[in-house]
Amino acid sequence: MKAEINKEAFLKLKKRFPWVYKNEIISMPECNPGDVADLVYKGEYVATAFLNPLSKITARVISFEKTYIDREFFEKRIKEAIEKRKGLEKITNSYRLIHSEADFLPGLIVDKYGEYLVISITSAGIENFKGVVLEILIELLKPKGIYEKADKIREKEGLEVISQKLYGEIEDDFIIVENGKKFFTNLISGQKTGFFLDQRKNRKTVGEYGNKRTLDLFANAGGFGIYANASFTKFVEISASACSLIEKNCELNNLQNYEIIKADVFKFLEKENETYDLIIIDPPAFAKNKNAKKGALKGWKYLIVNSLKLLEKGGYLALFSCSHAINQKDLLDLALSSSVIDNCYLEVVEFLKQDIDHPYVLNIPNSLYLTGVLLRKV
Ligand SMILES: C[S@@+](CC[C@H](N)C(=O)[O-])C[C@H]1O[C@@H](n2cnc3c(N)ncnc32)[C@H](O)[C@@H]1O
Repeated sequence: MKAEINKEAFLKLKKRFPWVYKNEIISMPECNPGDVADLVYKGEYVATAFLNPLSKITARVISFEKTYIDREFFEKRIKEAIEKRKGLEKITNSYRLIHSEADFLPGLIVDKYGEYLVISITSAGIENFKGVVLEILIELLKPKGIYEKADKIREKEGLEVISQKLYGEIEDDFIIVENGKKFFTNLISGQKTGFFLDQRKNRKTVGEYGNKRTLDLFANAGGFGIYANASFTKFVEISASACSLIEKNCELNNLQNYEIIKADVFKFLEKENETYDLIIIDPPAFAKNKNAKKGALKGWKYLIVNSLKLLEKGGYLALFSCSHAINQKDLLDLALSSSVIDNCYLEVVEFLKQDIDHPYVLNIPNSLYLTGVLLRKV
């Protein structure tokens, strides 16, 4: 099966970008979602891809070399992903094992939580090979159980959204042990595929600057505040279930002096007047795409200006954006314009990004989806 792509797509694929949009396909055969086809330009082979006529991303490249997409192919890719993460076993029992396009398996996400796997399939192509993928994961990793967490995004590929146990036994309650810290998480009912694994390294880096008073905004399970281990910590989080996780995690890690505020951070900042020497701002993606960027920048400016008011001189401010639409340069621009309002200097202490089990592949610009910066107020 062959699909002819246009010049724009050919040039992108030359740089090993893996997506071809509907309007970039000149002709394709009638096919079912997820069928494997050769992408050709002017009749010449360019790549092997999953085709899905139902999806705006109509072709997802699975290989730039002519190859059979069979059990052997998946086994090789999965083994490579496992091998790449070997070092992480020393610091954590939980990490992302396979990160979709960034591990050259478009639409396959696998997180390892101790002896359990939580998987998410977001392409029709991988869905067609689900049985093979499961067999390989079971053979290589011998998990106690595998749970599939369905992402809403599956609808765009014409796939059903059903979360379900796929293999063995799985329990909802699980304790992540990471750099000696413990985090209670819900494998089945938690956000994403569970815990924010992508922030592991940043939690450690930022946590080292914790001293007297930490303010953890958009705290989720309390990871940053717990790593910071300050004399006093205030966590602000809107979700009731996340707040109860923070409570459990503070107990698990013997944090003595803390307060958990269940509130909207924007409203909280209107009234807060206590000061801190470490503030973390790690909101959800305000801008999922470039169109929503203007509103997101306004929200961000409000958060930074009002946090700077609460930050003592010499204190640290960590900013994180988990949206590709708001990048590191945007965060720096926002911080600079906010510093003018606060009448202070801001030093850049660290540039931050997602941890290595969520690879940033230079050829795939949108694989850099979590960026951050740690600043010091002077
Ligand atoms: C990206 S997560 C934070 C991850 C966390 N810092 C960590 O490392 O585990 C964003 C969190 O913000 C919470 N949230 C979303 N909107 C909020 C708001 N307006 N006020 C407070 N919390 C909010 C979500 O429930 C979610 O737990």
